[in-house]
Amino acid sequence: MIHFNNAGCGLLARPVHQAMVEHLDLEARIGGYEAAEARAGEISDFYAATAELIGSRPGEIAFAASATDAYTRALSSIPFEPGDVILTTRNDFISNQIAFLSLRKRFGVEIVHAPDDPDGGVDVAAMARLMRGRRPRLVAVTHIPTNSGLVQPVAEIGRHCRDLDLVYLVDACQSVGQLPIDVDEIGCDFLTATCRKFLRGPRGTGFLYVADRILRGGFEPLFIDMHGARWTGPDTYRPVDTAARFEDWEFPYAALIGSAAATRYALRVGVRSISRRTPALAARLRDRLTRIPGVRVLDRGPNPAALVTFDVAGWEPAPFKQALDTHRISSALSYRHFAQYDFADKDVAWALRLSPHYYNTEDEVDAVADAVTHLAASRRTKERC
Ligand SMILES: Cc1ncc(COP(=O)(O)O)c(C=O)c1O
Repeated sequence: MIHFNNAGCGLLARPVHQAMVEHLDLEARIGGYEAAEARAGEISDFYAATAELIGSRPGEIAFAASATDAYTRALSSIPFEPGDVILTTRNDFISNQIAFLSLRKRFGVEIVHAPDDPDGGVDVAAMARLMRGRRPRLVAVTHIPTNSGLVQPVAEIGRHCRDLDLVYLVDACQSVGQLPIDVDEIGCDFLTATCRKFLRGPRGTGFLYVADRILRGGFEPLFIDMHGARWTGPDTYRPVDTAARFEDWEFPYAALIGSAAATRYALRVGVRSISRRTPALAARLRDRLTRIPGVRVLDRGPNPAALVTFDVAGWEPAPFKQALDTHRISSALSYRHFAQYDFADKDVAWALRLSPHYYNTEDEVDAVADAVTHLAASRRTKERC
């Protein structure tokens, strides 16, 4: 297979696989609670490694089951009231947009989408004006959306949030493991990610960064359990001081240990090196695809990331993906309803996403481009017949 679906799920690095299997073996031999006790060092390394990856402190990290799980835990800690504004972008991730709509339905919040810059990505000056004029309860930005290679200027936006002391939530699901992330530089209060994509960790894992100022400010998730809080008396509880407040008591420890191993692996490979090679492979692919008649490359904005999206004239989405499957090329489809704003702006019904990672090769990029050339041409020939 040519695995070009790293934005879906990266290939498990060997030490990750090994760490997980070893832990499962231990659980089978001595029991789940006892195994967790025996591996306390590896478990606490999840927090240390993740903190090192994003420039935070271990106490600001919570383990989560997915990026969406991390995101909704963060959202649930914000005491929204009717009329509160959530300021976001036209490129925020589908599930985040649905969560905002759900908050609107239940709490009467208002959702404001900052306009895009004509060159792609959010217009930061317009967004800053909205921050000053509307004083949003929350500013929420997806760093790299699932449906294109766009990289939003999260640090520039963060500077405005910090100036105005606004709560700032960044979805870094597609950027963690692909680009260097420094939460101080971004200036965010919350940051969410999965471990299964560019970090090459296991499925069912993710994390939430919660800034110290948010923890000290008393933010806590709506549903907090015996791990996140102490039951201090029949009528009282006290949240713990760290981001563990955002976790539950029960953990898939093998997966958590696997995530720690994945992060250590990425740190050893070097995120700066990854951030040079991975988007460069995507740029090579984009360059080849742009030159294929009938192919429309859809990524916008400066320095796009390793998510390459395009549509192909004359093809329906599922048969096109199936045709790539038969060439043993992994890919993913996005439909109009994945990106109501972005795909409407681009007049796109569907897009195919190819997302290489550093372990892919230039030869693979060329083989994929050749396959797309062949498929696009076959449809043109059929149309002429
Ligand atoms: C930008 C972005 N945010 C969030 C998610 C959701 O991640 P998860 O499936 O881990 O909840 C995805 C998944 O593709 C994504 O691309």
